Amino acid sequence: MKLVHISDIHLTVPGERMGGLDPHRRFAQALDEVRSKHQDADRIVITGDLTHWGEPLAYAALKDALFDLPCPVRLLMGNHDDCANFLAAFPDQPCDANGYVNYAEDLHGTQLIYLDTTAPRTHAGHFGADRLEWLEAQLQGCSRARLFMHHNVMALGQPAEDKIALVSEDRPAFADLLKRFANKVDYLHFGHIHAICTGTYCGIPFASVRSTGNQSLPNFTETELLHGGPMAPSFAIIDAGEDRTVIHDIPFTWDGPIFSAGTGWDDWAKPLAAE
Ligand SMILES: [Fe+2]
Repeated sequence: MKLVHISDIHLTVPGERMGGLDPHRRFAQALDEVRSKHQDADRIVITGDLTHWGEPLAYAALKDALFDLPCPVRLLMGNHDDCANFLAAFPDQPCDANGYVNYAEDLHGTQLIYLDTTAPRTHAGHFGADRLEWLEAQLQGCSRARLFMHHNVMALGQPAEDKIALVSEDRPAFADLLKRFANKVDYLHFGHIHAICTGTYCGIPFASVRSTGNQSLPNFTETELLHGGPMAPSFAIIDAGEDRTVIHDIPFTWDGPIFSAGTGWDDWAKPLAAE
């Protein structure tokens, strides 16, 4: 399966900028790249922070932007989102029995599980007993799974950033569940940190993606402030099969020179003039 993983698009009320840039233009550029080069995608998954301030007009703009796409789009909640306003704009959005935007679908024998790790008026992630119960039922009912979520559920060794990861009191039970089902869970995919970070957790590989807006700078000593800048954005193409996951980073705003080189040995030989 081919999945497009986009995150942290931070849409505003159209006309308003965010962090010095137009998030709508950036998101449109990302979707244009999908339309032009990834018509064979099976799903586009946007892992939260769909909007920056959760306004109805921002969700309306999101809805308007999702046209003429090659495959279904799956939307997740982030800490900048407003769940009520989101559901008002997307009334067909599935939720779990408790009203969280937790849902799942089978795709080619893999259960794609989309998690709602948010709570009102906090940037940190939450995933308490009621949500864990739902996730456990999903994992019990499938033979293999791939999890998408907004927040990182593990600390990443960045003190300030880790303050807004899944809250520490919810981490042990989440980790226990992952360990119990590690043989079924192929991958954890998340956003939130506006940077690419990869590793393993509880025996399961994980990967985050950049924002389509501003990026963060990893900081391993800062305890209070989050640092970032207008570095280039990207999204990810996930090529997943039964025995593999390959994740490509797509720098969709690059409009500078592109060099071409052949793949034969002679194509890379040092030119005579340079000897
Ligand atoms: Fe974000």
